[in-house]
Amino acid sequence: MTAAHQDATAQDATGDKVVIFDTTLRDGEQCPGATMTFEEKLEVAECLDTMGVDIIEAGFPIASEGDFEAVSAIAKRVKRATVAGLARAINADIDRAGEAVRHAQRGRIHTFVSTSPIHLAYQMRKSEADVLEIITATVTRARNLVEDVEWSAMDATRTGIDYLCQCVEAAIKAGATTINLPDTVGYATPEEYCEMFRAVRERVPDADKAIFSTHCHNDLGLAVANSLAALKAGARQIECTINGIGERAGNAALEEIVMAIKTRGDALPYRSGIESTMLARASKLVSAVTNFPVQYNKAIVGRNAFAHESGIHQDGMLKHQQTYEIMTPESVGVGKTSLVMGKHSGRNAFRTKLRELGYELGENAFEDAFNRFKALADRKKHVYDEDIEALVDEEIAHAHDRMKVVALQVIAGTSGPQSATLTLDIDGAQQTVHANGNGPVDAIFAAIRMLVPHTAKLELYQVHAVTEGTDAQAEVSVRLAEDGRMVTGRGADTDTMVASARAYVAALNKLMLKRQKTAKAEQLG
Ligand code: KIV
Ligand code: ZN
Repeated sequence: MTAAHQDATAQDATGDKVVIFDTTLRDGEQCPGATMTFEEKLEVAECLDTMGVDIIEAGFPIASEGDFEAVSAIAKRVKRATVAGLARAINADIDRAGEAVRHAQRGRIHTFVSTSPIHLAYQMRKSEADVLEIITATVTRARNLVEDVEWSAMDATRTGIDYLCQCVEAAIKAGATTINLPDTVGYATPEEYCEMFRAVRERVPDADKAIFSTHCHNDLGLAVANSLAALKAGARQIECTINGIGERAGNAALEEIVMAIKTRGDALPYRSGIESTMLARASKLVSAVTNFPVQYNKAIVGRNAFAHESGIHQDGMLKHQQTYEIMTPESVGVGKTSLVMGKHSGRNAFRTKLRELGYELGENAFEDAFNRFKALADRKKHVYDEDIEALVDEEIAHAHDRMKVVALQVIAGTSGPQSATLTLDIDGAQQTVHANGNGPVDAIFAAIRMLVPHTAKLELYQVHAVTEGTDAQAEVSVRLAEDGRMVTGRGADTDTMVASARAYVAALNKLMLKRQKTAKAEQLG
């Protein structure tokens, strides 16, 4: 039994500890374009572990070799949290998930099967009786591999309550220690979702032997409200993701759940073990590695979440912070943009600054980051925290890329054609080409296509400045789509053209990984 599980089962529905189950690396990664590399997943997992997340769902081990390796590496690396691997109700999936979490200090197999009439009729083509048998067989198999087994009723909120109770009873009897009742399609209202938990917990014999868990999608914008409503009916685990990323409209946002519980203890008498001052850092990291921008007005971690524009609000804030703020920016880790170091700063100061920003780098990664910082400080007058974060996130994201930008010269201006001379390192060999284009970015992208021929379509090209000033670093996002696969790459540099080349090449690196993943999934059928 895991520490989180002991902590939560030691209490009944009146206990106040809410187990935070983060699925950024699994459900979050399932959203189109959000593929993360192996190194990025490890970095996110470390951040979640340090922040106090109880359970990290690290991936879907049967889905690809890459997923399996990422889950295994996270299982070995993570010190505190339980590490979960997802498995369909199929023996091969369960065995693979068991193998992936084998070395974890605390490992969990999370297995799921659909229970709603629509899924049974059209997707599974199975009867209710068949699915009951499958639940018993697969949960039993998982329990033979690990002690900590979570079972999920996919599309629970569109399942008849009698049948749902039968399924939950079968799962608990077979040894499931956590029962998750997802609102897979984001259809429920808070009252309905709460009522479903109440009914299941009342009607199922031995319901008190398991922790009940929420898993809400945000199709109607109700994911957080639904998750919190279920706590009233005794749910004590919430599945959520950083920035609310996930399938379609996403999952319940971890930062919103945590801060709602922390800020409204009067209405929500629970506690989570999350260190809330790390929320902003986790949000930035996930946004950087997935290349999903955080909307400006996003609760808790959006750029405007603590900005006050109107005269009346500013006046009130100057008189007393609580006039217009229900929580402090510091409580979620948002500090003032601070001027940090310049070209004279040494290794010690840089290492201390990295720690302050929540990074622990190995020696090689530290040296690379330090050299890039020095180069940046030579070019840029003021180096801000945001500059260092952009630089280190990029370093981590691209350390193991097969293709890298080595050199770029661009000719731009009023008298075209604009042109680019580009050198890429591809699997250790350098190649240079020259291309013309309708504008400098077009020329760079044409050069990349000459060196790496592909049919992927450019879906998005976006530039934003990391900080203020004309010498600010540009952060460029490039999204490519190929045969239904979508990937996003990011590049940062004080030169927008260099950042653009890096972003396109980063997207291509991810596309290669995704092609391998799809090929493996097709093999598995
Ligand atoms: O949304 C869902 O139902 C899921 C399950 C796999 C838990 O993600
Ligand atoms: Zn989901």
